[in-house]
Amino acid sequence: MDKFLIKGPNRLNGSISIGGAKNAVLPLMTACIIHPGKYILNNVPILRDTITMAKLLEMVGAQVEIYKNSFLINTKNCNKPYAPYDLVSTMRASFYVLGPFMSRFKEAQVSLPGGCAWGPRPVDFHIKALEKMGAQINLTDGYIKASGRLKGANIIFDKSSVGATGNIMMAAVNAKGTTKIENSALEPEIDCLMNFLNTMGANINRDSNNNIIIKGESKFRDNFEFDVIPDRIEAGTFMIATAMCKGKVKLNNVNPNHLSIVIDKLIQSGSNIVINNNSLTIESKNRPKPVDIDTLIYPGYPTDLQAQWMALMSIANGSSKIIDNIYTDRFTHIAELERLGANISLNSNIATINGVKSLKGAQVMSTDIRASASLVIAGLFADKDTEISRIYHIDRGYENIENKFSKLGAKITRIKK
Ligand code: UD1
Repeated sequence: MDKFLIKGPNRLNGSISIGGAKNAVLPLMTACIIHPGKYILNNVPILRDTITMAKLLEMVGAQVEIYKNSFLINTKNCNKPYAPYDLVSTMRASFYVLGPFMSRFKEAQVSLPGGCAWGPRPVDFHIKALEKMGAQINLTDGYIKASGRLKGANIIFDKSSVGATGNIMMAAVNAKGTTKIENSALEPEIDCLMNFLNTMGANINRDSNNNIIIKGESKFRDNFEFDVIPDRIEAGTFMIATAMCKGKVKLNNVNPNHLSIVIDKLIQSGSNIVINNNSLTIESKNRPKPVDIDTLIYPGYPTDLQAQWMALMSIANGSSKIIDNIYTDRFTHIAELERLGANISLNSNIATINGVKSLKGAQVMSTDIRASASLVIAGLFADKDTEISRIYHIDRGYENIENKFSKLGAKITRIKK
């Protein structure tokens, strides 16, 4: 298993380009199943997760060709609406095939994802909504077996869920009649999926209350190109890294509107940020001020940048609090940050971080995608050597993170095992 070796401390300077959003492209790839066709997705990050999704599409009968950051996906011969446990358990987003399978084949056999590194992550909203749309569903042997011609329904989610909103949107485009999703997710990745489906020929809108209205039985196009939106989480990770290590970094290919709350928090913490249309520059000169965050659904502070913020706050000039309201157990990074010298205590889903002046390199272990990003950031700041193991987690969500940090002057190398 590969490792990162980081020699600190590092200061970051220069410019890099942010890739396409992982959480946007994964449902776009499954959306290609809905209608037999040839689709080109541009600005696709080459990640373990996008490659895993390509493998899953191939198992379903699609052909996926990769040219640099473009995926050519041919779904004309898809014929097997099946997603096995070994793929779904390594990447929960595989569950995004459920809606497209029901749309195209009126049947699906998809493994239940099970828990994840930081606790249970249920899929009950997806299942209940499909049942309301008329699907017959059996949960046997760890699989969801669904079948039936879907009809439009009024779906009200108890909580806003990105995955359930995406899956039901994809299921509803071929249903008979109109589907309304109340308390739908507002994340930009959902709007990107809506744009893709509308480009495909679907009829999806948001009403004035942000409910999603999907008119079913669309007439689809079978050949078009689509650009994936920039990854706001990757951008936020590099911004927080710059705030921690100090320096001046320009990020190209970003959508600053998607980063408003992160930009606000970084400015409160003492960074200067200059925003352009699709780039931004962050400059940080001083030790960060303590700033509290609590994770919320979009446009609130994203849970996927919680661990990185904790790394930054671990060296703040005072103490701060982080509350994770989305995933209340998502704190496996605390023990690893403490190995580098951070002072953090956890009470339920509230972490209190007492900022220390310096961190010192140590051997640490990645536990999930975003937790690993927090360790990279902390390791870049820390004095001396930090070795991060199990970095396959980071490869799931960041394309060439070490090359991008090296381009900014950091001393980070991948040790291949
Ligand atoms: C997506 C993102 C993930 C991010 C998360 C929250 C992808 C591939 N992943 O995950 O990176 O951290 O949004 O922004 O886009 N819930 C239920 N029942 C369900 C579904 C969800 O109780 O059936 C709960 C979850 O436990 C959680 C909340 O709803 O507390 C939000 O989860 P959700 O938005 O569904 O997350 P994902 O789509 O899995």
